[in-house]
Amino acid sequence: MSADLPPIALVDLAARHRRVADEVERRVLAVLRGGRYVGGPVVEEAEGAVAALLGRRFGVGAGSGTDALALALKALGVGPGDEVIVPAVSFFATVESVLHTGATPVLVDVGAPRPLLDPDAAAAAVTTRTRAIVPVHLFGDVAPAPALGVPIVDDAAQSVGTSPPPRQGLLAAVSFYPTKVLGAAGDGGLVATDDPELAQRLRRLGSHGMSVNNVHHRVAGHVGGNSRLDGVQAAVLLGHLAALHERVARRREIAARLDALLGDLALPRDPGSPVSVYVIRHPRRDRLQAELQRRGVLTAVYYPLPMSAQEVIGGDLARARAATPRAAAFCDEALALPCHEDLSEADVARLLEALSGALAACA
Ligand SMILES: Cc1ncc(COP(=O)(O)O)c(C=O)c1O
Repeated sequence: MSADLPPIALVDLAARHRRVADEVERRVLAVLRGGRYVGGPVVEEAEGAVAALLGRRFGVGAGSGTDALALALKALGVGPGDEVIVPAVSFFATVESVLHTGATPVLVDVGAPRPLLDPDAAAAAVTTRTRAIVPVHLFGDVAPAPALGVPIVDDAAQSVGTSPPPRQGLLAAVSFYPTKVLGAAGDGGLVATDDPELAQRLRRLGSHGMSVNNVHHRVAGHVGGNSRLDGVQAAVLLGHLAALHERVARRREIAARLDALLGDLALPRDPGSPVSVYVIRHPRRDRLQAELQRRGVLTAVYYPLPMSAQEVIGGDLARARAATPRAAAFCDEALALPCHEDLSEADVARLLEALSGALAACA
């Protein structure tokens, strides 16, 4: 591989911006010149557009996907003394959001080969204190959500662009972190729901618990805070929306070419996945990652540890391995490869060649 070519990265946000620059910059400038920076018609338009994408009536913006999850749980009244069931493989924010409500996350194992919530493990974990289940629709695939008589909150952070969108829960939380398929130019998130009462609670929770200016209430037992989508981020999202369909189509096309080379190493995907992250499993993952890097392909480990092994919640790998063995096995083998709309045909050819070479070196 030619030494003077830049490495193939997992994402290229500057290239993505260039494709939609005129539309995004026009909209952002209009917000800046309009002087309405928090709330207002642009935010309402973005909230409505994303809610429609998710197949829900209401969208309530939040400061991040993490906040969106915590607000969704709080709107349901989840709090201290309650338990929330979450899968052991996710970005840590899923657990963090439960902890921010004061409740206890109950980490359950995932299936195989895909690291999606195992419905039997979830059913076995239900107790009288279980107040919610959070299936994580990881990498853009829809996780099963068992009907256990407990409210479901979709962690749909990686699911904007999934068709049909996950609709298991009363509420779905998404993230607009810049690397997401629909990303902002900073942090942002949103909760979508069909329930007007929940939508109103979410709005109040994210706006200091206010009914009218400077009159504050507890909402579903919780003190409010400040977590809203701002006008500039809403404008960026609206500027990206028209490109979303084409973006997802290109990701699926590249993913299909990777699948053809990788066979069973590639995780199975739902046909409607936007390929938020393209992940493979390989028994010599670390060696494969190094071989790919040597050949100019940058990759990432999504995720290196089951959430139950994270030190922040007092976990350790040995216990996590015993309690959630499929999650631990996944985390030992998972590797995310570049698969995004800003790869040129030449990049895809280089990627496939590098993969062939690296796989042969790891055989
Ligand atoms: C599965 C999952 N949940 C939650 C989050 C949190 O979103 P954010 O980074 O916007 O707080 C993310 C994204 O990073 C995620 O991938």
